[in-house]
Amino acid sequence: MMANKSVRVNGHNHDIPDVWYARRLIDFLRTKLGLTGVKDGCSEGDCGACTVLVDGQPMCSCLLLSGVVEGREITTVEGLQKDHLERFSCACEKHGGVQCGFCTGGMAVMSSWIKDGGTETGVEPVSKLVAGNICRCGGYQQLTKAIVEVG
Ligand code: FES
Ligand code: FES
Repeated sequence: MMANKSVRVNGHNHDIPDVWYARRLIDFLRTKLGLTGVKDGCSEGDCGACTVLVDGQPMCSCLLLSGVVEGREITTVEGLQKDHLERFSCACEKHGGVQCGFCTGGMAVMSSWIKDGGTETGVEPVSKLVAGNICRCGGYQQLTKAIVEVG
């Protein structure tokens, strides 16, 4: 008997049914697993709202097929460490980094990656990274301050 194809998401194993194998990871996460903190802003890899960690590296889940992540470890905003999320939320509140909130999940994932040593902290490197995640409300400076504070 063939083993089920599976992926680990936020610390839990999930089978990837055949019907989902060639569908986008973002749809598997949002529709199949109900992880709606992963947002679909552009479907083209341009906005970063769909950012998740794949084996610890930030990637756009709108550009990945579910089958490609078989056997990998996925972390969505819902699976980030609670203490980091709390610190990030407090820093966003302090600096005015959340307006409509559409970009916040992807920013939180990037913030977690930065905190875990993904890149240098400091205003310049963080602001370059934040520019890759589109904030339609224009909160880049506020978000940069928040991410630097928790980085
Ligand atoms: S929805 Fe994936 S980058 Fe915009
Ligand atoms: S807070 Fe609205 S898109 Fe960033």
